[in-house]
Formats: sequence, structure tokens, C-alpha cells
Amino acid sequence: MAVDLLLGLQWGDEGKGKIVDVLTKNYDIIARFQGGPNAGHTLEFDGIKHVLRTIPSGIFHEKSINLIGNGVVIDPVVFAKELEGLDQFDIDYKSRMVISRKAHLILPTHRLLDAASEASKGKAKIGSTLKGIGPTYMDKTGRNGIRVGDIELAGWKKKYRALANKHEGMIDFYDVDIQYDLDDMEKEFFQAIEVLKTLKFIDSEEYLRNALKEGKSILAEGAQGSLLDIDFGTYPFVTSSNTTAAGACTGLGIAPTRIKEVHGIFKAYTTRVGSGPFPTELFDETGAKMAKIGNEFGAVTGRPRRCGWLDLVALKYSCEVNGVTQLMMMKGDVLSGFDVLKICTAYKYKGEVINHLPYNIESENVSPIYTDMKGWKEDLTKMNDPSQFPKELNDYINFLEKELEIPIKIVSVGPDRTQTIHR
Ligand code: GDP
Ligand code: IMO
Ligand code: MG
Repeated sequence: MAVDLLLGLQWGDEGKGKIVDVLTKNYDIIARFQGGPNAGHTLEFDGIKHVLRTIPSGIFHEKSINLIGNGVVIDPVVFAKELEGLDQFDIDYKSRMVISRKAHLILPTHRLLDAASEASKGKAKIGSTLKGIGPTYMDKTGRNGIRVGDIELAGWKKKYRALANKHEGMIDFYDVDIQYDLDDMEKEFFQAIEVLKTLKFIDSEEYLRNALKEGKSILAEGAQGSLLDIDFGTYPFVTSSNTTAAGACTGLGIAPTRIKEVHGIFKAYTTRVGSGPFPTELFDETGAKMAKIGNEFGAVTGRPRRCGWLDLVALKYSCEVNGVTQLMMMKGDVLSGFDVLKICTAYKYKGEVINHLPYNIESENVSPIYTDMKGWKEDLTKMNDPSQFPKELNDYINFLEKELEIPIKIVSVGPDRTQTIHR
């Protein structure tokens, strides 16, 4: 059997949680491969809205195994709270969740370092979620990190102490005003480590290899989005992992030859939370209307998301970097009632018209060139078949498929599991 991927193609929050939940019935294993609690994946069903951070979005289905891969960074404190949040549902998560021993741990001092680094940057800050992601991946690549497997070994606390002491020195070096009580934070951390230990730790690459041999199907769930990728995103305003397709290989130990479908997910418009360039951003009432109707507030930090028109130049770039084989268009319902819908099909870059994403996409270098499409008035949220789509929506979809040369297989028309239309 093969592995399919599901990846965000914009700056995150495309609706990955919802779609993974919808697709889970087709898979035996759902596997997160990168990121950590900077992610907030929202699922809605039976009148319940639930946000997952580190736990894969297949957890609400009885059949699936949910695997947290080696590429993920885990904050035991956030993770323990996530488990508590699942207690209200009748889910036997202990038998349905497995964690890679090679996943790295986010320590309390990683969170503090994130805060200190951002504070030191002033206006140039990344707009991090402050969950300790950057410092944890820095320790991973710097070969200083502490992994899940370490906490099964005697003496790991000595290693912890040495690293935390070093971090404290680094926090002092930043010379910014950060108030904290490390004793309290560590108490919470070590309690959460005990909770983490109640779960099953595995050698996940071996586990997945055997699963494939046994004919099991795997869906790899991405976090963040392609434009936040550490290599291919809008650096330095990115996250610290590879959010693109290659990240699934390194984050799970899966060979590229095992990957079959690459599901690329995008909003019918564009949003971004945090700092960084965003060529099609709207600063007028149209953008405010999108934010209001789309309820564009971050699932993790509650920060308002910046909104703008769909950027096809960026979307095409993401499809190419990931090798997307099928697309899913989310939040189509939010665009009902706009007279004109604009799609950015090229950039004006240093006086020239270009069709690719250049090195610098800051507003002083790039301005979007738009194609206007007629909007639709109809409410899409009660529709359940493409035959009910208004002509203008079909025109919008057909235009995107033609430009991207990839079929749009799902159109999402609301946050609920049931508001999902297959084409
Ligand atoms: P993720 O991080 O990619 O999983 O996305 P988030 O959960 O952070 O953000 C997506 C938001 O849009 C959530 O609040 C979802 O409930 C909501 N959502 C998902 N699909 C749709 C849709 O088709 N229409 C509307 N109106 N909301 C949606
Ligand atoms: P999901 O999985 C949207 C953004 C932050 C910031 C930058 C770096 O829910 O789509 P970090 O905390 O990683 O150091 O922040 O990346 N960011 C996200 N934006 N959705 C996410 O995850 C994000 N995870 C990080 O806002 O700009
Ligand atoms: Mg999110």
C-alpha cells in the first residue's frame, strides 16, 4: 500500500483538520510528521467544535491509529492538556495513539527562548506562536535536543538540567524583560512527562514500514502551510520545519517512492497570521468582510488573521514544490455575496510582469495583477452536490483548475464535517 499526504498550500489554517477528519475513514493510520503545538487544527461535527494541536486529526474515528512522527516537536504540557480535552469524548486514545521515540521535546526554557528572541527583534519579529518551536528545532539540528525516547532512560534529567541551564544563560544574553518562574514551569513539565509516559512509544519508521507491508493505508497530515516552510516559505517569516511534501519523508521515515496521492488544500481566498509579506493582502472593508464572515481568528493564539484575495502565483508554486495530485478548496461559502472576486494571476516585479514567486515578495518589490471574476450570491452552506453550485462558482473553480492543471476534488462549504462536497 501507499502513503498519501495532505498539505496546506498557503500560510496555514487552510482547514487541514476538517479534511483529515473527513478522509480518515479511508485510512488505517493518520500520521503527523512535523510542527508541534503551533498548529491548531479545528474539527466540527455533531455540534461540537474541537481544536487539536499535536494529536493527529483522525483521533475521533474508532478505527484509525494516530501516530505522532519523529519530525514533530512535542510539548508535554500542551499535550497533557490536549488529552484532558479528549476526556469529554468516549475515546480510547491510549490504544489508538502512538508516539515516535525520535520526536523531540519542547522544554519550558524553549518557550522562554522563543519569547526572548521575539522580544529582542522588536518590529522585525516573526509573529511566532511562542510555543518554543524555533528553539526546539534549533536544538534538534544543533544535536542538543531531548527526545521522547530519552525519558525512558535513567539519568535523562541530568541532560535536561544541563540544557535548561544553558538556555537560562542564553535568555540572559538576550537582555530583554521576560518574567518567569522556572520552578513552577518545571513542576508542570515533569508532571506532564508522567502523563506522556502513559502513552505507547514506538520506533515509528519501523512501525510504518511494517504497516505498509501488511497492506495498511497511511495518510500523512501536514501542519502549517507550504509558504511557512523553512526552505521554500517566505523566510525568515516562516516556521522551523519542512511543511512541504519532503517533510513527510524525513518526519516519518517514509521513502519518497511510497508516496501516492498528494492532497493540496487551500482557502478560496488567502489568510496569514503573524508577520511577513502577503502580496494580495487587503487593508480595506473587503478584507474586513472576509475576516468577519470567515471568522478569521487564529485557533491557537486568537490573533486576527490577515485576509486577501487568492494568490494563484503562490498557489501554483506550492503545487509544484509539493507535487500536488488533487486539490481541495475550502471556505467557498465565505465568498458568497462579493460582487467581484479577484484572483492574482501574475506579479508586477521591478517593472516586469512575472508568473513565478521571486526571491523577494515584499510589497515594495511586488504588486499583484488581478483577473476579475463575477461573484455569486447564493448561500453554499446547505448544498450537498456540485450540481447545486451557481454558475459563477463553477466558473471560479474551472478557472483555477485550468490555471493549475490539477483537479479540485473537494469543495468545502462550511466548517462541519458534513459540509463537504466531493466532485
Ligand atoms: P487548519 O489549521 O488547517 O486545520 O485550519 P484551522 O482549524 O486553523 O482553521 C480553519 C477554520 O476554518 C476553522 O475554524 C474551521 O472550522 C473553519 N472551516 C474549515 N472549512 C471551512 C469551510 O469550508 N467554511 C467555513 N466557513 N469554515 C471552514
Ligand atoms: P496550522 O497547522 C498558521 C505562523 C506563526 C508565525 C510563523 C512562525 O494550524 O495551519 P512558530 O510558532 O512556528 O515559530 O511561528 O508561523 N504559524 C502558523 N500560522 N497556522 C499554523 O498552523 C501556524 N503555525 C505557525 O503565526 O507567523
Ligand atoms: Mg490552524
